[in-house]
Amino acid sequence: MKLRVDLAGKSHSYDVLIERGLLGSVGKWVSSLWAAQKIAVISDDLTASFYAEKVMSNLDKAGFDASLFIFPSGETSKSIATAEAAWNFCAAQALTRSDGIIGLGGGVVGDLAGFVASTYLRGIHFLQIATSLTAQVDSSIGGKTGLNAAAAKNMIGSFAQPDGVLIDPDVLATLDERCLREGMGEVIKCALIADAELWDKLDKMSGNDILDNADDLIAYAVNVKRKLVMEDEFDNGSRLLLNFGHTIGHALEATAGFGELMHGEAVSIGMVQMTRAAENKGLVKKGLTDKISDMLHKFGLPVSYEPWEPGKIYQSLMHDKKLRGKTIQTILVTEIGKAEIHPIELNEMMDYLKK
Ligand SMILES: NC(=O)c1ccc[n+]([C@@H]2O[C@H](COP(=O)([O-])OP(=O)(O)OC[C@H]3O[C@@H](n4cnc5c(N)ncnc54)[C@H](O)[C@@H]3O)[C@@H](O)[C@H]2O)c1
Repeated sequence: MKLRVDLAGKSHSYDVLIERGLLGSVGKWVSSLWAAQKIAVISDDLTASFYAEKVMSNLDKAGFDASLFIFPSGETSKSIATAEAAWNFCAAQALTRSDGIIGLGGGVVGDLAGFVASTYLRGIHFLQIATSLTAQVDSSIGGKTGLNAAAAKNMIGSFAQPDGVLIDPDVLATLDERCLREGMGEVIKCALIADAELWDKLDKMSGNDILDNADDLIAYAVNVKRKLVMEDEFDNGSRLLLNFGHTIGHALEATAGFGELMHGEAVSIGMVQMTRAAENKGLVKKGLTDKISDMLHKFGLPVSYEPWEPGKIYQSLMHDKKLRGKTIQTILVTEIGKAEIHPIELNEMMDYLKK
């Protein structure tokens, strides 16, 4: 399946390919997009242990001069230190502006590789090979790159679109159970904000047949994301809806300590907390919180976190990218498949953090 991300203005359009077994023809895919040149493949050690050999030999056969940069897997690697090592690696390989970077991995690799590509020599081309469920349903699409700083999650970053995204659902077979379930957080979010049909599909599934349904779930989620990105590439309007659960989720990720909660887990808790508070205020349908919690619980996602420290979470919220002056653009799901931007004053946010 090929889904196009059509972007207006200065950004270019690109295709997202979703098909089982695609990783075996990665060289052909890259050749269809780039003329023979140097490539730096950026991956983490765990993903690389499964897939780097296949990708590197495939690129070699297709005539590319490809080298591999590996960093330790995990959220703490999404840092300036790793980015600097990657920039230096690209320089040591003498990559020029006509060369390219490929991110091979989950969301951490994708965010980092995209950022390195968008800043090395003021920006070179890059491709995403998404290997975790979170990356396949969300992070590889839309061109947001990012690094964490001590103060906040994704504080440093750029908007930079890849030339293409390759998604091979077969690679999910090697993903650890927790990471697979984490990816369901973003799939459920897509259903909640924009796709009641996807919600019905999820409703009919058991919590244990994620892999069998992966192709379908990925296609549904990519469609939700690409439509919102095409409407609003730079996050000034409807794209903000994708941040449902993220305001509290990102702050919780930072206060819990990066790596303690996975991104999708924190978003899961954020979606429930936000909806509960909105339901208590009479802003959304009664019973919605339980419905959302039950669905997240079915797929093995957490819906609460201890210790719950509203003061610390609030402090971390000050760095939220959805903050404009003292107003924060929160997202509310009002019913399944429908979401709206709900701007509130920052100090009102304390109401949304109460248990
Ligand atoms: N840019 C965006 O729009 C966007 C959207 C959502 C999330 N994100 C970011 O994505 C990150 C989370 O992504 P993630 O959950 O993929 O984390 P991750 O990249 O750390 O991957 C999770 C784990 O799975 C391993 N892994 C990846 N693919 C594998 C495979 N096929 N087989 C075996 N192991 C594999 C990784 O090595 C890692 O240990 C967060 O940093 C989040 O902020 C970005």
